[in-house]
Amino acid sequence: METQIKETQGNVVSIENPGIIAPADWQPVIMGILCNWCSYAGSDLTGTSRTQYPPNIRIIRVPCSSRVDPWFIIKSLQTTADGVLVSGCHPGDCHYIAGNYYARRRFLVIKKLLNFVGYHENRVQFSWVSAAEGPKFAKVVQKVTDDIKKLGPLHKYKKENLK
Ligand code: FES
Repeated sequence: METQIKETQGNVVSIENPGIIAPADWQPVIMGILCNWCSYAGSDLTGTSRTQYPPNIRIIRVPCSSRVDPWFIIKSLQTTADGVLVSGCHPGDCHYIAGNYYARRRFLVIKKLLNFVGYHENRVQFSWVSAAEGPKFAKVVQKVTDDIKKLGPLHKYKKENLK
């Protein structure tokens, strides 16, 4: 699928739906679903270390990445989000022993499904960030934000557009 920024006279064009044009100062909304024990603590460390990262992310805390029901991702994309980041403990570090292994398998399937129905693969991203990796969390958020900015606004399958 196409991954380059499209711009027409300073405006941003949606990759999935080229008929949708947003103003040049458009900012994506990214839903960040983070496991409580590692990634959420990592994001907290980013804040307490005063490391800068894009303000586009809206964080939801879950007990473990395995708690992330694919429905959370689909619902986010259908309503407000232009992209979703799911982040958990590194493989082998899950506080519920194997939760992130289950999550990893589930994410592969949900990513394929979303791609099949027409979402760009970069709309939903996954990462492993530990509680001690505040700077890494900032880098991940920066990368996801940059990727979503390149894709433009998400209008496909938004509830208000399906009338
Ligand atoms: Fe963090 Fe399971 S507790 S991924």
